[in-house]
Parts: sequence; structure tokens; C-alpha cells
Amino acid sequence: MFPLDFAWGAGTAAYQIEGGWQADGKGPSIWDTFCHEKGRVFKEQNGDVACNSFELWEKDLECIQLLGLTHYRLSLSWARLLPDGTARHVNQKGVQYYNKVIDDLRACNVSPMVTLYHFDLPQALQDQGGWKSSAIATYFDNYAKFCFQTFGDRVKLWITINEPQVCAKLGHEDGIHAPGLKEPGIAAYLVGHNMLRAHAMAWHSYNSFYRAKQKGAVSLAINSDWLEPLHPDCHEDIAATERDLVFTLGWFAWPVFVTGDYPEIMRSAIDSQSKKLGYHGNSRLPRFSKDEPAILGTADFFALNYYTSRKVKPGGGCGQMCMKSDRDAEEVLDPSWPISGVSWLAVVPHGLRKLLQYIKDTFNNPAVYITENGFSQIGPLQIEDIQRCKFYSDTILEVAKAIEEDGVNVRGYFAWSLLDNFEWADGFSVRFGLFHVDFCDGKLSRTIYRSGREYAKIIMKYKRET
Ligand code: NOJ
Repeated sequence: MFPLDFAWGAGTAAYQIEGGWQADGKGPSIWDTFCHEKGRVFKEQNGDVACNSFELWEKDLECIQLLGLTHYRLSLSWARLLPDGTARHVNQKGVQYYNKVIDDLRACNVSPMVTLYHFDLPQALQDQGGWKSSAIATYFDNYAKFCFQTFGDRVKLWITINEPQVCAKLGHEDGIHAPGLKEPGIAAYLVGHNMLRAHAMAWHSYNSFYRAKQKGAVSLAINSDWLEPLHPDCHEDIAATERDLVFTLGWFAWPVFVTGDYPEIMRSAIDSQSKKLGYHGNSRLPRFSKDEPAILGTADFFALNYYTSRKVKPGGGCGQMCMKSDRDAEEVLDPSWPISGVSWLAVVPHGLRKLLQYIKDTFNNPAVYITENGFSQIGPLQIEDIQRCKFYSDTILEVAKAIEEDGVNVRGYFAWSLLDNFEWADGFSVRFGLFHVDFCDGKLSRTIYRSGREYAKIIMKYKRET
């Protein structure tokens, strides 16, 4: 049985849906810059217009109501609110836009969950070193305080940073996300570190200045696949799986929920790889300073983005200084798992239940919001998306079992995504929406998929039962 106040939601992110990249005083973000460079994104596509939710917000609201959602997760564009990243200049038009979105949601009895940072750093801050610079934590904290102050009377669920692991690795080591840096070995750890510092500062600000009055909750959204040993009896595979989980989930969850520092397995794997390669610098994994706000305890709930599962064995490195080599874990697919529209997304609903159990056991039974979970298709309109219907009903059944049989304290489930949208480096070729968006009809028409109807039915059924 789902709890009475269970959050039934769907999510989006500013850059993926809003468009209006220069509208009404918005400043440029790193994704604007990245997409406007040649060869970065599938077919040179970009989010200049995307779903044009900046102008078509009311259409999105209709979609939200059609699904019967109790919650909607959106992100704020930092550069729409503070065009140069600092509160020296506030863009009132940006404030008005988000005020309207939040007020409209509440008028329809839908609670907003708001993400402060979903990959789109103001370009002006990137020009000063971005997430690699230590100063970014204070910039972020000031931005967070501005948002708590401006919207916190109506927003009760906050995510500071979405998927720090993805920003750190894909953006600064692999170069396939903005800002497109390829600096293997050090940059990703430094970025992750500054993200943790920034998150913690914002959480402490909320705790000290806003919590008593606003009574909300703040966390960061951590992504992780469920991982299990390729051969369950093989010690090397078990160790590789443990290492891999630590490098994905543990990297951010361990400092926040367990010790205030990185998992020891992670530090020793990085240090021993450094030694092997004859690297003479300090540990590539930075250390937290005792003079800064503590990291431990800076989450009021566990926010999990789950998409898929993997089997793990040792290997996969390139023998050079990079995260892959540090991890020494190769991920493979189980051939029995069906594939969705994109190759990386094997359909493994039971993996979510296992991951939830792992989170309960490892992180002291926290309240959990599944802040993203979804299924993608490739290509044009397939309104009768039967496979995705099954994906949602099977996955939500696993969540129900996690609550009822395993006693995991799951408080909400957010499908990704409300709309087909700009899927980062894959542009518009990959479609995660519960609503189809026609990117060619000149109107960006939204049409509900069969899976959208299925999700609406599921929500209604469970709401009735509670
Ligand atoms: C997680 C990211 O937060 C989201 O922006 C993205 O679209 C989905 N994964 C699907 O890849």
C-alpha cells in the first residue's frame, strides 16, 4: 500500500524543455554555448526552442492535470534568474515566469519539487572556472538562498544538484556534456567535490535561515544503476561490484549519509592506481576542510534517479589516469534483460527494488523519493507504446513491493519525463516523454502516449486504494 501522501510525479528540466534561451533577459548557460559549437550534439541540435515551455507553460499544465499528478518536478534556470550567476542583477522576468509556474501548479493542487541545478551553469560562472573553481560553492549558496527566499514560501521539496556524477564525469572527463572538457583523472573528482561543498552550504543555509518558517526538505539527486556481480560466487566479481557501487552511489551518498567523507574503498582504489601509474601529486580525490560546513547529514531525504541495471566484473580500464581505470569494474548487460529505445537502458524493474533495499540497509533507512525513472523510445511518433506501458506498471509494482514487503520508506515516484524533450547529447532523437511532442509541426503539439494514460490509471488506482 502506498502512503496516503505519496508523491505521484513526473519531472522535467529547464534546458530540456523551456527554450527561450535569450528571452526576457535570460543569460547564456554552458549548455547554450556547448550546443552552439559544431559537432557536440546529435545533428547539431540545441535547446534554443526545445518544447518552448517558456511560452507554452499552460499546455504543460494541462498535461500534468491529465495525468492526475500530485507533484511536478521542474528545475530553475540559474541564468534565467541571475543572468551572470550572481544576485548583483536579478532578472525579474525570470522570477515572474517561475512564480507563475509555481502558483499555477498550486492552484491545481499539484506540489512543486524544485531542482536548483540541472546541468545548466551560467556561462559567466564557467568563464571564472565553473565547477572546477572552489569559489563556485559560494556562488551556488547565494543562488540557493535567493531561490529559498523568493520561492520557498510555496516550494517544500528542494533538490540542490541533479546527478552530480553525470555533470562531473560526462562534462569534465568524457567531454560529452557541457562544458565539454576532456581532462581525465582529476577534473571529475574536483568538480564532484565542489558540488558536494556547494550542496552542503546550501543545505546549511536552508537549515539555519529558512527551515523554521518554510518547513521544507532539501536533498541532492543521486543517480545509480543497480549493480550485481556477473558471477555471484566469484570473489573478484563481488569486489568489482562493491567498488563500482561505491564509485557511483557512494561517491556522493557516503559523504552525505554515512561519514562526511568519501568511501575508503574509493580513495584507496584511486590512490593505488595513481601509484601504479607513477603519479606524484597529492591524492586526486580532494579532502574536505574542517573549517567548512560539514557534509554529513546534509540531506532530509534520499533522492534517487534510477534507470537500469548492470552485471559487473573486474576490468574496463584503459591503463591510464581516468575514472574508468580507478574503478576497475566492467559493466555488462544480462542478455535476458530487454532493451528499450536506447542501448544503455536495459529494462530491469526488479533492479529498482534491490537498489531501494540496498539504500535502506546502507544509509540507515532514509525517506526516499525516486526523483527519476523512465523509458525511452527512438524516432517518430509511436503513440501506442505498449512496451513502455509494461515498463511503468512493472516498475511501480516493484516500488510497491519495496514498501510493503521490504519496509523501504519510499515517499514518492517521479516518472521521467512529462514531455519528450531535448535529451542532451542525443538531441531530440531520444524520447522519454509521457507526452509526445511534435518538434516539426510548428506548434510543438503535445499528445498523450498510451503509457501516459497507463500512468494516469496507475495513479488513480493507487490513490483510490489509500
Ligand atoms: C537523467 C537526467 O537527469 C535527465 O536530464 C535525463 O534526461 C535523463 N537522465 C535521461 O537520460
